[in-house]
Amino acid sequence: MTQGPYRVDGRTARVWASDAMAGLARRLGRDPLQRLRSITDCSVWDSTRRPDREALRAALVGQDALLCVLTDQIDAAVMETARGLRVISSISVGVDHIDLDAATQRGIIVTNTPGVLVETTAELAIALLLTVTRRVVEADADVRRGHWTPEARWQIDGYLGKDLAGSTLGLVGLGAIGQAVAARAQAFGLRVLGWSRSGRKVPGVERVSLDRVLAEADFVSLHLASTDETRGLMDASALQSMKPGAILINTARGDLVDELALVDALSAGHLSGAGLDVFAQEPLSQGHPLLTLPSVVLTPHIGSATEGTRIRMVDLAVANLEAALSGQNPLHCANPDVFSR
Ligand code: GLV
Repeated sequence: MTQGPYRVDGRTARVWASDAMAGLARRLGRDPLQRLRSITDCSVWDSTRRPDREALRAALVGQDALLCVLTDQIDAAVMETARGLRVISSISVGVDHIDLDAATQRGIIVTNTPGVLVETTAELAIALLLTVTRRVVEADADVRRGHWTPEARWQIDGYLGKDLAGSTLGLVGLGAIGQAVAARAQAFGLRVLGWSRSGRKVPGVERVSLDRVLAEADFVSLHLASTDETRGLMDASALQSMKPGAILINTARGDLVDELALVDALSAGHLSGAGLDVFAQEPLSQGHPLLTLPSVVLTPHIGSATEGTRIRMVDLAVANLEAALSGQNPLHCANPDVFSR
């Protein structure tokens, strides 16, 4: 990598970062954007409120590059105001918040941060699986509420859950995160079935059709990007074809699942639980029917939320941005067609 500062039209490149990362800076004792500030004319959004659409559009006027997060909706209209934009570097693996076609048409390079969050996200999928199968949230709440009384000190039939060992896990999607979940699941003694659109083979995973994954797995975990092909994949009919009593885990994207159909399948007792980190609309609205179901464990999109992983994501996003500004190929480009325009 060259050293910067990077120049555009004879001046230092202008970059706008949609998150000041103040909390991360406090945790680390250093500014995660230090490198970016030293190689570009960098301005940051410094409010704790996320920029809304109008704020995004206003902030992007005159910028050459954007460092964004997955809550920033970067659609064609936003790009239209940012006429000089050359690079959108997202601190995320998913890029469903960016209109990739519109970016490619405008010659804007879009980059993302796969790889560095694989283990962390796989750990959350396993954490959700264990939390649901062993009813950890319910048991914790009972202890705190004073329901752990002398009479209920140890009950032969209390908090009965499901064993992972000897059960079958079905993976829908066998990319890096799906594979990392498979490795962990094997250590727990689970038989692992898997389906992916690419048909890739993964050691220790029995590759079967999606229908078989759904019909045979005691636990199904989703590891797919949200695209036109995958949105709504887990609709009412897919959920109905899951094994009775099965559990659904989703750390991928909320819109893969028809949430109301999931509520119906859980309420009717067809599925026995779910562990969900992602939702069709985030944040989940108060009053959402999922909140009423004790068999569901809900977390607020924290798949990559460890200090180490978040800083690796920022560093990778900055490296991607730097490569793109210096005319090199970024490590991870989400719209490689942009180079053949
Ligand atoms: C998280 O969901 C990501 O896409 O990085």
